[in-house]
Amino acid sequence: MKYIFANWKMYLDFDETLILANALLREKIELTDAELAVFPSNLAVREVSMSLGASSIAVGAQNSGYPEKGAYTGLVSAQMFAKVGCKYSLVGHSERRYIFGETNEDVRKKIEICFDAGLIPVLCIGETEKDVKEDKREYRLKKQIMAVFDNLNLDNNDIIIAYEPVWAIGTGKNCDFTKAEEVHAMIKQELKNYTKKEISVIYGGSVNDKNVKSYISLKNVDGVLVGGASTKLETFLPIIKEVQSLSN
Ligand code: PGA
Repeated sequence: MKYIFANWKMYLDFDETLILANALLREKIELTDAELAVFPSNLAVREVSMSLGASSIAVGAQNSGYPEKGAYTGLVSAQMFAKVGCKYSLVGHSERRYIFGETNEDVRKKIEICFDAGLIPVLCIGETEKDVKEDKREYRLKKQIMAVFDNLNLDNNDIIIAYEPVWAIGTGKNCDFTKAEEVHAMIKQELKNYTKKEISVIYGGSVNDKNVKSYISLKNVDGVLVGGASTKLETFLPIIKEVQSLSN
């Protein structure tokens, strides 16, 4: 199974989001052994979920994992996202970690709440440019993995990992393919310390229609998380088609 996940971040307003979701719907995308999901802004999640309801395109939240209800000004809980049809939630995206100060402990809590709510968390991990310079890539990733997977109950719960090098996000500097394969293999090896389950690991960071095929063809890369290039039909559709051509 290959995943194509579209993180629309805060790039699109309500109307723009619906225009793109409906444009995708009109394409009548059929995927074999692949899953397409979009992650709209909170404002548009319910509407997109209703529009795409009858299609095979899944919907996810960009950030969730708070207690079901309560005095949490400005937040939307995992349960609320699940109730309006979300299947997934990104958790620990680097923009949450580095702009909003989310810690590994916050990420762990959010993952558990996603499980309770019935959402499949897409745990984002990745090293910074500074980590690379200091030769701490592996250290950073293993630490982020440990914080979430140590004693995590995966018996009835699914989780997907997105390896997103922070220096590759929105920069046009995508990770070298050989390096990506090496890192994904390392992540999968590391996960064996915590679970017997096969966990899918997808790649994110400046994915576009020119490089997607190379990533998707790598043995240990189970899909892609696409930001900027997923926010316009003309740049996103070619990416979907590349994945489609490989899985058919
Ligand atoms: P990008 O973003 O494709 O714009 O680099 C990826 C992400 O942040 O998920």
